[in-house]
Amino acid sequence: ANEPYDVVIIGGGPGGYVAAIKAAQLGLRTACVEKRGSLGGTCLNVGCIPSKAMLNNSHLYHQSQHDFARRGIDATVSLNLPKMLEAKDNAVLGLTKGVEHLFRQNKVDYIKGAASFVSPNRLSISPIADAPEGTPTEVEAKNIIIATGSEVAPFPGGAITIDEKQIVSSTGALELQEVPQKLVVIGGGVIGLELGSVWSRLGAEVTVVEFLGAIGGAGIDEEIAKQFQRTLQKQGLKFKLNTKVLSAEKKDGKVYLEAEPAKGGNSETIEADVVLVAVGRRPYTEGLNIEAAGVELDNKGRVVIDDQFTTSQKHIKCIGDVTFGPMLAHKAEEEGIAAAEFIKSGHGHVNYGAIPSVVYTHPEVAWVGQTEQDLKAAGVKYSIGKFSFTANSRAKTNMETEGFVKILTEKETDRIVGAHIIGPNAGEMIAEGVLALEYGASAEDIARTCHAHPTLSEAFKEAAMAAYSKPIHM
Ligand code: FAD
Ligand code: NAI
Repeated sequence: ANEPYDVVIIGGGPGGYVAAIKAAQLGLRTACVEKRGSLGGTCLNVGCIPSKAMLNNSHLYHQSQHDFARRGIDATVSLNLPKMLEAKDNAVLGLTKGVEHLFRQNKVDYIKGAASFVSPNRLSISPIADAPEGTPTEVEAKNIIIATGSEVAPFPGGAITIDEKQIVSSTGALELQEVPQKLVVIGGGVIGLELGSVWSRLGAEVTVVEFLGAIGGAGIDEEIAKQFQRTLQKQGLKFKLNTKVLSAEKKDGKVYLEAEPAKGGNSETIEADVVLVAVGRRPYTEGLNIEAAGVELDNKGRVVIDDQFTTSQKHIKCIGDVTFGPMLAHKAEEEGIAAAEFIKSGHGHVNYGAIPSVVYTHPEVAWVGQTEQDLKAAGVKYSIGKFSFTANSRAKTNMETEGFVKILTEKETDRIVGAHIIGPNAGEMIAEGVLALEYGASAEDIARTCHAHPTLSEAFKEAAMAAYSKPIHM
């Protein structure tokens, strides 16, 4: 048992746990060290999963208040927030336990503790409170994968301190015990819009303050961002764009934010009961004693890797939020698989040009590949195929016609280079766009592929028709 492991993975998030399972499946003797006390990382414990539980259930509640009547459903429905929070906790528990089960099934050793480098091949382990007897205090590994993820970025300059009660990060915003009257969200990126939507649907008056002139975070198509903002405004969210929050002061049970125009000018005070700070996340390597490993970080604290995920040490790889690229669970998972394959065979692959982004609001917003602004900047001649859900039969019957599909193709070849959707089930539908990019499909390929009727995905097909010829239903 004291033999060195073939691979030790530090961190049991989507990057780390997937790498561990894949490595074990490839026949490598594998351990995964996690200090949180449960597997699944940020995503399963305080990120993707609890936020989607709250998004789904708050949407149903909101529908019961504002949408049932026009569908011929008369009902008196009330909110039971403790129960909704419990349903979220149960979703988290079920899935994190599920990963533990997968570890046992695949013979991954789950080490409950905090790992810290002693030397490039040795890790000391500080076992956590509920670590089983016999948990090693040191492990040796032929290969190590760093998958320590990210943490909430603090407000710049320490001007706002998160207390997770009144001034919360996403973590506290998933635990609020009552619906705040006035919620102010700092940052109109993905977290701000998703969690802002949750509390707005449950009855809070929500104002989103965003430094930039548009919402949706990095990589969103400008046209989609505009429509997105209009849609959320109709739902009652308020936006203050081009506005920079400077500081916060707690007084008499309220929070007073000081903000000024992004370009400078007179400052204003914004009052809130609860403030959500959602200004981004940063790579996390605290306590890892990474210097002892001789692994290089860049000036943003990211672990520097090459195109095979290898750090400045040949036998140490790094994946997920703690290194370059978008901070997304599915990106970390793809890297986890590829890193394990590189260790086993020297080959692995992630296509960074085809990683989807999804914002799980209602309607959802999803995209993959290039935006119109990307193509303009690169001087590529392109065609646009657009199809509105108002002309899609299923969206009509579902009474959910807001939004559109927009497909971008290279003009000369008809090859699809980007797909952008705002509309019902956009997050599921984008998979077709990702597949199109992976296979180098042309718009005509998609347009000549039979799509079931009546489905929302016919809007994708018709947008492809519109890109190379004409749609039928518009
Ligand atoms: P993490 O999930 O952060 O996991 C790293 C793990 O390493 C942690 O559990 C940590 O405890 C452990 N660790 C760190 N240091 C040590 C150490 N020294 N020893 C032992 N263990 C250690 N992404 C999506 O794709 N879709 C979404 O819908 C989505 N929603 C999100 C919602 C919210 C509110 C947030 C905050 C994030 C969301 N994300 C979403 C982002 C997603 O959670 C991350 O991209 C993903 O979790 C990154 O995976 P990772 O494995 O790189 O790191
Ligand atoms: P983000 O980077 O998406 O957005 C932060 C926003 O805050 C930016 O638009 C920025 O301009 C703004 N901002 C920064 N400082 C400001 C200030 N002083 N005043 C006003 N606005 C300011 O970061 P966010 O939303 O915190 O999310 C972090 C990461 O988590 C994302 O990058 C994403 O990768 C991941 N995530 C993914 C989800 C998904 O895939 N559905 C859901 C939630 C999070």
